[in-house]
Amino acid sequence: MAQKYRITLLPGDGIGPEIIAVAVDVLKVVGQKFDIQFEFQEALIGGSAIDATGEPLPKDSLEICRNSDAVLLAAIGGYKWDSLPSHLRPEAGLLGLRSQLGLFANLRPATILPQLIDASSLKREVVEGVDILVVRELTGGIYFGQPKGIFTTETGEKRGVNTMAYTESEIDRIGRVAFEASRKRNRKLCSVDKANVLEVSQLWRSHITQLAQEYPDVELTHMYVDNAAMQLLRAPKQFDTIVTGNLFGDILSDAAAMLTGSIGMLPSASLGSSNPGVFEPVHGSAPDIAGQDKANPLAQVLSAAMMLRYGLNQSAAADYVEKGVLQVLQRGARTGDIISPGMNLLGCRAMGAALIQVLEEE
Ligand code: IPM
Ligand code: MG
Repeated sequence: MAQKYRITLLPGDGIGPEIIAVAVDVLKVVGQKFDIQFEFQEALIGGSAIDATGEPLPKDSLEICRNSDAVLLAAIGGYKWDSLPSHLRPEAGLLGLRSQLGLFANLRPATILPQLIDASSLKREVVEGVDILVVRELTGGIYFGQPKGIFTTETGEKRGVNTMAYTESEIDRIGRVAFEASRKRNRKLCSVDKANVLEVSQLWRSHITQLAQEYPDVELTHMYVDNAAMQLLRAPKQFDTIVTGNLFGDILSDAAAMLTGSIGMLPSASLGSSNPGVFEPVHGSAPDIAGQDKANPLAQVLSAAMMLRYGLNQSAAADYVEKGVLQVLQRGARTGDIISPGMNLLGCRAMGAALIQVLEEE
């Protein structure tokens, strides 16, 4: 009997609907090949949810997500909603989803594909062989710390406040995810902080150091975030697994993504301890190219592969999708963000069709 899964689709804004459509087509092929039955249900989040309901994360959407086996999200945000107060911005929907589902661990792999080395802005010898996993804490730190807000001081001046805070238990659980993840890789973990300045980082560093005693087979190093940003560009191959807090992880994962040529290639998995995981590309909603059939759908497709692997435990199906992506690139298919001379420039839909063709031939 076919295995059945309920998948919530959150297309969101901008290029979201275009790229998620490609991922759904891919999953349909996966379903046929692996005898899996996907039941898709779409829900609103972000700017499109604001337009339809006045809220960036309607209760309905959250319930639908909770009641599914996994959530496939595209991207949220756009110029149109940029001037709304922060709790009504599209981003608040995404942050609410992560925190309501308790998705504290965000896995962001940055692997350079041999086919795309020439699309990187760095030299071939610097990026060839790069394979980094950024483990970003996702429900704490300065994104969620209290107090936060824009307040008026006694002198009538406005003052914006955010608070960067981590408890030991929050550091502990993300630290464990990172140590475990590094065990499945090269057993090298670099913890990134700003312990030369921030108390919150001092606690982070001492707790991660303590935790390392339970993982004697993993080589732990520490690095300040400013140096880590520099080292990622200077000599990225020194990194294997990186663990860091929410804000540093946000920034460093964009930098790591760019090593691979395009942020349009990078997937992510957001996992908690009980609720379904959310799988989404690292890139945003790209409102500048929305609706023009120019977006690269591959990060979304690779996010669906991460969903198969981490969310549904279907690793053979995940391998099949990932291999298909390599193969379609091998055949010269490229969207605008990863184009190089001699390659074949395709739009979003055509890239999807080329990938489906490859998958069906496999
Ligand atoms: C990301 C994004 C989000 C974040 C935004 C859209 C809220 O940049 O997933 O990296 O800052 O976490
Ligand atoms: Mg980001």
